[in-house]
Amino acid sequence: MSTLSLALEHLIPAESSIPEEFRIQELHQREYLIDGELRTWDGPVQEVLSPVYIQTDRGARRKVIGSYPLPASDIEAMQALDAAVRAYDNGRGEWPTMSVADRIACMERFVGKMMERKSQIVSLLMWEIGKTLGDSTKEFDRTVEYIYDTIDALKDVDRASSRFRIEQGIIGQIRRSPLGVVLCMGPFNYPLNETYTTLIPAILMGNTILFKPPKHGTLLHFPMLEAFKECFPKGVVNTIYGRGNTVVPALMRSGRINVLTLIGSSRVADQLKKLHPKVNRLRAVLGLDAKNAGIILGNADLDLAVKECLLGTLSFNGQRCTAIKIVWVHRSIADRFLERFTEEVNKLKPGLPWEKGTQITPLPEPQKPAYLTECLRDAEAHGAQVVNEGGGTVQESFFFPAVVYPVSPAMKLYREEQFGPVVPVVPFDDIEEPIQYIIDSDHGQQVSIFGTDPAEIASLVDPLVNQVSRVNINAQCQRGPDTFPFTGRKDSAEGTLSVEDALRSFSIRTVVATKDTADNKAILNDIVEEHRSEFLSTKFIF
Ligand code: G3H
Repeated sequence: MSTLSLALEHLIPAESSIPEEFRIQELHQREYLIDGELRTWDGPVQEVLSPVYIQTDRGARRKVIGSYPLPASDIEAMQALDAAVRAYDNGRGEWPTMSVADRIACMERFVGKMMERKSQIVSLLMWEIGKTLGDSTKEFDRTVEYIYDTIDALKDVDRASSRFRIEQGIIGQIRRSPLGVVLCMGPFNYPLNETYTTLIPAILMGNTILFKPPKHGTLLHFPMLEAFKECFPKGVVNTIYGRGNTVVPALMRSGRINVLTLIGSSRVADQLKKLHPKVNRLRAVLGLDAKNAGIILGNADLDLAVKECLLGTLSFNGQRCTAIKIVWVHRSIADRFLERFTEEVNKLKPGLPWEKGTQITPLPEPQKPAYLTECLRDAEAHGAQVVNEGGGTVQESFFFPAVVYPVSPAMKLYREEQFGPVVPVVPFDDIEEPIQYIIDSDHGQQVSIFGTDPAEIASLVDPLVNQVSRVNINAQCQRGPDTFPFTGRKDSAEGTLSVEDALRSFSIRTVVATKDTADNKAILNDIVEEHRSEFLSTKFIF
């Protein structure tokens, strides 16, 4: 057995050897939130198995960490929909008509409760999806910061709207109004952060919510159910459990979903949108597939390119929508790049999520190691090799990163989004080759260019900004900072997310207007002075 296999074998601990502070109490969730009530579930449940294996009498087994409701029909989902529709009440409900200042106060209470539950949520992130302690903590903190930034952005939006405009004899006040019922579904790789970056702005703008947690990453939302119940009026947030294909189609077919927000696959988004009977009434805010390319030019600073490509391809085992999923390297430096890159890849430390210095962790999707292995075999059959020692070694849910070279169009890895620790590397002679690859791609999220010649970089920036939504120069692809627009072209996204853009995505500009006459001015003055309307108002939030 190789040293690497032995090292990986040690990553299946006996439960007793896990430090007490990182052990997990099984969490058997039986409550679900509908219409302001935490209802008790007594039907079938989904057992939750951690990606972390432990030694048992029966050999290595995924650790059981809990269970959650798994309805076999869409009955509860439709009850949740009824509750959200009632709470919205065609825009006349308590929440959509509440003042922005009062909505913000509810959200501030919520975030306070969220912080009280930090350690439980971080522990569940580690155990449910195998994210390291450091990255799980970062995900939690980044989400809290995102909520506060969103609140500040909303105050700005509201201040800018707290005035009347007079143009061409028309007096008008323009504000952003909610859209209605939002179906919100997040991904497993950032189950807290990416879910909340849609859920929180959707709530704040006055919509009511159906919230379906991701399949891997459900339990970590449980600690917040009570906070949702206590901080918002009944029916504003309702939870949905069950297999997506069992519970979601009926919701879409009902025609009562106004916004679909999903961070997931374009295939699922396509299917769901088509189920809506009045597709023009449906707004979609989507973060979808991506196959971001890194392009290493012949004159690139290799140390920097290696460092950024390592982060870009393999942070959280490559399970980021923004990961660099294919590396194009100029043939003149391909050997040198591969030598340095594989050396760094092989220094990455596989470990358990709570262990200090861990960089590679178990994968939460049970089929993933087999799929990635299949990609490697396919690449080998078409003439490529795994060029780092031990690359692709599997130990249960661990998959040691594999660098594959030279990748060519016949291979799965050339086009498929591997979403895991495999790095396909393609040599090129002419820069037109990677450019054409990006043009032909179904995806258009980001690209990273590595080079030192300003003229060459500039000549790439101009064509590439019309293909993708972010061009990174000498830096890995990434979503942050969260104030930057996060979107994509083609099958990579619909709508734009960022602290401010998300507020726009979940609302619509609405105008109240009148002709500039003495009588109309008297009416407006009376409404404003007597505080008769939340919309027609010059109140200023400090
Ligand atoms: O999975 C996609 C995430 O939005 C990526 O965010 O670039 O900050 O890791 P990140």
